[in-house]
Amino acid sequence: MPSAWRPYPEATAAPSPNPTDQLRFSTTLTLAAVPTAVGAARRYVRHELTSANLAALVDDAELVASELVTNAIIATGVMATEPKWPELEGLAVVRIRLGFSTSSVFIEVWDHDSELPVQQQSGEYAEGGRGLAIVASLCTRWNAQPAQDGGKAVWGELPKPVTQELPRRVPKRRHEPTGLRGTGPSNRVVDAARGGDTHA
Ligand SMILES: Nc1ncnc2c1ncn2[C@@H]1O[C@H](COP(=O)(O)OP(=O)(O)OP(=O)(O)O)[C@@H](O)[C@H]1O
Ligand SMILES: [Mg+2]
Repeated sequence: MPSAWRPYPEATAAPSPNPTDQLRFSTTLTLAAVPTAVGAARRYVRHELTSANLAALVDDAELVASELVTNAIIATGVMATEPKWPELEGLAVVRIRLGFSTSSVFIEVWDHDSELPVQQQSGEYAEGGRGLAIVASLCTRWNAQPAQDGGKAVWGELPKPVTQELPRRVPKRRHEPTGLRGTGPSNRVVDAARGGDTHA
């Protein structure tokens, strides 16, 4: 497992749309490379993004994570839905990392296979080859790069929604005729004159 993963924008195919972008923090989850890891990764993504106030990105981020984790499991894990114990000997792990920068969320999945994936041109009737095309269409950038300590990381970048700060509402000052200010008897007199409740 890579001990010192470098920040994402290094070795990328496309330059960052925002060169001043800074990685603020990241979280990781390591999972056994079995099919149930896909659902676990989705729930993890949902939880982390919701906690970071980024619920608007959850659906896209879950989809990207599930495509990348599925690929990582196919490449390195056990695909049987109910594997027997002997099949689990030497079971690989995959690791998902979420990186939160000033303007983006990075979804990165590491596996121990050093083969870098290549996006396919899948035809209309092709059964597979769409996963990375989906990642490419949802993300502003994606890439795969060898990890320092072996294996590789495949990642995609989702831009944070631009939130426009609304001007703060200034409370309106109440303008009352000077004679009616206060809660004294004069108000009650006016209410009574309008036919209202005199027990204000
Ligand atoms: N983590 C990975 N490790 C090694 N090879 C990978 C990895 N991810 C993808 N690939 C390679 O890239 C190809 C394209 O991946 P992609 O996800 O687009 O399609 P797919 O997995 O073949 O089909 P689909 O995702 O539509 O079910 C894969 O067929 C595989 O050969
Ligand atoms: Mg795939």
